[in-house]
Amino acid sequence: MMQTPVLERPVETRVTPERIIQTVYGFAPAYLLDAAARLGIFDALADGSKTTSQIARDCSVSARGAKAVLNALAGLKFLTRENGAYGLTAESAAFLVRGKPAYLGGLLRHGVQSIVPHWAHLQETVRTGKPAVPVNREAEGAGYFATFVADLFAPNFASAQVLAKTLASGHPSPAAALDLAAGSAVFGIALALEVPGITVTAIDWKDVIPVTRKIVSQFKLDERFRFVEGDLLDVDFGSDYSVAVLGQVLHTNGPDWARRVIKKTYDALVPGGTIAIAEWLVNDDRTGPPPSLIFAVNMLVHLEDGDTYSFSEISGWLREAGFKSVRTLDVPGPSPLILAEK
Ligand SMILES: C[S@@+](CC[C@H](N)C(=O)[O-])C[C@H]1O[C@@H](n2cnc3c(N)ncnc32)[C@H](O)[C@@H]1O
Repeated sequence: MMQTPVLERPVETRVTPERIIQTVYGFAPAYLLDAAARLGIFDALADGSKTTSQIARDCSVSARGAKAVLNALAGLKFLTRENGAYGLTAESAAFLVRGKPAYLGGLLRHGVQSIVPHWAHLQETVRTGKPAVPVNREAEGAGYFATFVADLFAPNFASAQVLAKTLASGHPSPAAALDLAAGSAVFGIALALEVPGITVTAIDWKDVIPVTRKIVSQFKLDERFRFVEGDLLDVDFGSDYSVAVLGQVLHTNGPDWARRVIKKTYDALVPGGTIAIAEWLVNDDRTGPPPSLIFAVNMLVHLEDGDTYSFSEISGWLREAGFKSVRTLDVPGPSPLILAEK
């Protein structure tokens, strides 16, 4: 007698396309925040809540456009909405109003204007393994970084302040710090503000240094800074520093480059001096965290040999160079900082 076939149920009955469908619009929050910041919508709400028509008038935008964007921002909880009026949340008040010290509008603009167009070539980059624009080379990279390193000041300043407070004491006199690939000099500035009398040598590519100088001047720290133009592997770092910071630069090249820069930094420190490294750290298996894995793809898109590294990889390179007491320091950044002593 023939057996009745047993109908197989799908193994995972609750599988839904929801997450993938939502991902289609994954780009939208960044565009919404960038457009609203640049149109002055958050600025217009700094003094209090407003209705759609008031915001449309104050920001010189259409009522139709304002309505759609305001509703989406409220839905995403970047604005509040009560009795038909929109207001700032604690988050948008702190980070999206122009003129606030932690304003992130520049970072949003950089994402939408510079990063997204490069990601548009992702398929081709994955196929070839080569970035559309290799910004690890000074010829292409210096101009690229000069346009946005100032925008990295606000997102990195809180981390830099925690580091500066942690390293506030125990420096020899006169104390000197090294800010490598300084960019906005965010780490050097935080140290100069926290450690009395410390001088800072800021090194970066020639076309970036004018931006570095300008920001240092805004903090009236010109006399405490020395600027060195050039590539990290070519320039003389100098010596006798009690602290050296490698802020968000190890990921711009492959492991051999990172090891050479770490060794050169070791040679520039006094015995007992501290190296601090800011990076987007991945876990040992490279299964997370997602922002660091996405940042690794960002490195594929922009660099010939860049990547994100794990604490184990970086601490191995530090020990190989001679550093001891490798540890992490929790900071309000994408990952903890890595510290070690010569
Ligand atoms: C992502 S930014 C980080 C800037 C800053 N340290 C911070 O944490 O905000 C990277 C910086 O490294 C600089 N840079 C990249 N490769 C470099 C190299 N080979 N030599 C010197 N500077 C380099 C760039 O010009 C840029 O200012």
